[in-house]
Amino acid sequence: MSVHKEIKRVTTNSLQEMKVRGEKIAMLTAYDYSMAAIVDHAGMDVILVGDSASNVMAGHETTLPITLDQMIYHASSVVRAAKRALVVVDLPFGSYQGNSKEALNSAIRIMKESGAHAVKMEGGVEISESVTRILTAGIPVMGHLGLTPQSIYKFGTYTVRAKEEAEATKLKEDALKLQELGCFGIVLEKIPAQLAKQVSESLHIPTIGIGAGQSCDGQVLVIHDMLGINEGFKPRFLRQYANLYEVMNGSIKNYIDDVKSESFPNEKEQY
Ligand code: KIV
Repeated sequence: MSVHKEIKRVTTNSLQEMKVRGEKIAMLTAYDYSMAAIVDHAGMDVILVGDSASNVMAGHETTLPITLDQMIYHASSVVRAAKRALVVVDLPFGSYQGNSKEALNSAIRIMKESGAHAVKMEGGVEISESVTRILTAGIPVMGHLGLTPQSIYKFGTYTVRAKEEAEATKLKEDALKLQELGCFGIVLEKIPAQLAKQVSESLHIPTIGIGAGQSCDGQVLVIHDMLGINEGFKPRFLRQYANLYEVMNGSIKNYIDDVKSESFPNEKEQY
């Protein structure tokens, strides 16, 4: 008899069931194999290979420069590590807004070349043709509304979205549209908690919030932010669970000192 315990993969259906049960969904970003392995072993429900890789991995100011090839590279590393979590990958800026055929090709490349389980796209009714075409090919799609960083130059600022009634109304309509098209979930980024509550209650698919309050069906954070790897990034919505910048900086300084003072390697650390 085998004692090997099989790990059950989280699916888009499991997320739906979690919403029905009232069990909150935990989602976190990862961009490489080693981090994704830690995140997956910890029991994460969803790993997002976010285009925030453009910021935290590549050092760009915005998410706009990251390419489809680069997203596929990050996603395939994460997929190799994730045994339990559902892996969702951002379609990068420029890979789906132009036309729906191009959007489908981009989504197919992500699924085929990385082995990921779903894609995420920013926008509402204006991307409905692309969302529909991708869904028709059997690829699960997660929506993303509110502060959509790929539109940063339209917004001009990273502050809270949909505080005005017109934008809030459009967001509610977009959420219903994405659900009607067949999206399995929607990220709500940086919108008032009360609006996120209304949207979450109006949908049967789960909402995942970032800076959108406690009524969302789940929460997502960027791993570098919550582990305190990015020094100085402390928006109000962020809970920082560690200060890895200090831990890593201190360890690296100790290593430099040890090399300079010739205390590393010692006799036990050589052959
Ligand atoms: O790219 C990303 O990390 C995201 C999250 C902030 C939701 O889209």
